[in-house]
This record gives sequence, C-alpha cells and structure tokens, in this order.
Amino acid sequence: MKPELRMQFLEAMSRAATFVAVVTTDGEAGRFGVTISSLTSVSADGAHPSLLACLHHQSPAAAAILRNRAFCANLLQEDQHEVSDLFAGRMTVGEHSGRFDHTAWSRGELGQPILGGATASFQCRVATSVLWETHHIIVGNVVSVELSDNAGALLYGQRAYRRAVQLSAAK
Ligand SMILES: Cc1cc2nc3c(=O)[nH]c(=O)nc-3n(C[C@H](O)[C@H](O)[C@H](O)COP(=O)(O)O)c2cc1C
Repeated sequence: MKPELRMQFLEAMSRAATFVAVVTTDGEAGRFGVTISSLTSVSADGAHPSLLACLHHQSPAAAAILRNRAFCANLLQEDQHEVSDLFAGRMTVGEHSGRFDHTAWSRGELGQPILGGATASFQCRVATSVLWETHHIIVGNVVSVELSDNAGALLYGQRAYRRAVQLSAAK
C-alpha cells in the first residue's frame, strides 16, 4: 500500500467522530477488556439484535472473546474518557487484568463484565467472526441490554475526546 494513501485514510477517518466502547469478556480464556471505536449496530430485526466490533488480531481481548464465545460491549458515558485511556493501554497499570481494578463492575446474564456508569451495555454471544487482514470482525447476538440514567455517550473525533452538541429537536 502507498504510505500516502494510508495517511490520507487515517486523516479522513479521524474526522468521523465515533462513540467509544470498552469491550469486555470473561470465561475459560480469562478476563480481558479493550477500548474500541468500531462498535456498530448491524440489525435490530434478526432473531436477535446484532452488533459488530473490529479488534486487532494481536489484542489479547480478541483472542479471549473468540474462545469465551461471549462479550459485553460497554458504551462509555461522556465523563469516562479516563476509562477509555485505561483500556487502550494509555495508562500504566502493570498486568492487563489491572485495568479492571479502577472501576466498579457487575455481571450480566451471560456472566460478562458490565462497566459501572456505562451509558449502555450489551451482553452478546459471538455469532460469527471473520479475520480480515489485521482485524477480527466479530458479530455478536445481543441477549440483553442495560441502560444507565445518563444517555450522553463519549465521542472520539479529530484525535480527541468530545461530547455531542444538540443541533435540532429530537425526532
Ligand atoms: C478511542 C479509541 C478507539 C479505539 N478503537 C479500536 C478499535 O476499534 N479496534 C481495535 O482493535 N483497537 C482500537 N483502539 C486501540 C486499542 O484500545 C489499543 O490498541 C489496545 O488497548 C492495546 O492494548 P491491548 O491490545 O493490549 O488490549 C482504540 C483506542 C482508542 C483510544
């Protein structure tokens, strides 16, 4: 690939502000979590609602999700940017499992870790996955959803954390 095209792609994608999630998993492969912006709704109208996440193939969380066959997608609330940095490895906490020591957790019906204060959390069973070059594209069937009282989701765009500003009446 031409280096210039890669740089243009990265700059273009940095302008697409996205919400931020911490995807967690627990089970026989152990407990892991990682910050992602690639969480996307796939369908509300299948046998289950479904969503997808793209995780780097070297992320220990990706390997653990694929072995545990389940995960929780925790959509971060707008004041949780430090949690995002923690699960992106931007803060030194020693072992990977140390990432879980700084916030409150509960368990959902699949036993997957729910982050306290997350604006929404989705308990998912792995439905299918594809390894596309560097990333696993993992599709999850949503089994249950938890909603907090704060609907304001953390955003990441132009290489900084942001919050949404309302420009029109809700429809
Ligand atoms: C805002 C933000 C969004 C990210 N989105 C993704 C993503 O969608 N997929 C991914 O694999 N990594 C993503 N990362 C990078 C991972 O969080 C980071 O590389 C990872 O935590 C490295 O540690 P680990 O692989 O040991 O868990 C993102 C990081 C940040 C700060």
